[in-house]
Amino acid sequence: MKMELMTPLILVNLKTYTESMGEKAVTLAKIAEEVSKETGICIALAPQFSDLHRVACSSDVPVFAQHIDSVTPGRGTGAILAEAVIEAGAIGTLLNHSERQLKLADLEASLVRAKAVGLKVCVCSNNQAVSGAAAALDPDFIAVEPPELIGTGIPVSQTQPEVVTATVKTIQKVNSKVIPLCGAGISTGEDVVAALKLGTHGVLLASGVTKAKDPKKVLLDMAIHAK
Ligand code: G3P
Repeated sequence: MKMELMTPLILVNLKTYTESMGEKAVTLAKIAEEVSKETGICIALAPQFSDLHRVACSSDVPVFAQHIDSVTPGRGTGAILAEAVIEAGAIGTLLNHSERQLKLADLEASLVRAKAVGLKVCVCSNNQAVSGAAAALDPDFIAVEPPELIGTGIPVSQTQPEVVTATVKTIQKVNSKVIPLCGAGISTGEDVVAALKLGTHGVLLASGVTKAKDPKKVLLDMAIHAK
């Protein structure tokens, strides 16, 4: 039975790390499911496109694509089609991650396609202004992630709290339906506590879990602190 997407949310982006690809993505998904069931905290995964189906089939955690294109079914060679992502078992998608940035018009077009097929959308933003523009497009989530902190283990929630609070305030002003998250350097339960205290409803992270010696220990620490 698929677990419900809810907040507080721990969304783990598997990126293109070899440590979280193929069967290793499945192993991480099973760990995420175990921790989520043990703590009652929602943990979702965003595997590479090629791993979406195997991850969605092997665990009950909500699965996100890392991106979708604005193509419609037909002649979109090489593109990532929203309907294919749904068929693969995903319930949502990231858009505009700093490693897969989009122009505003392209972001809007991809977001429209995602909504057309019922995908939840988490738009990634690199600062307060982009968060405000993204909120106007009415995604489900916005995750603010200062690019310079990504992959550093230096948590945005503890080192740049003003970026997070500014984004939370801007989202509240532009579109209070959007759920704010934050990411970049999030690696411990304390980082999650700090993120929640700043007004977000969860975190988006990658290397703190994908490159951890003991991913279960890290996820358990984060989930326990998110309660
Ligand atoms: O999508 C989340 C990611 O960009 C954050 O990276 O490795 O700092 O958790 P990381």
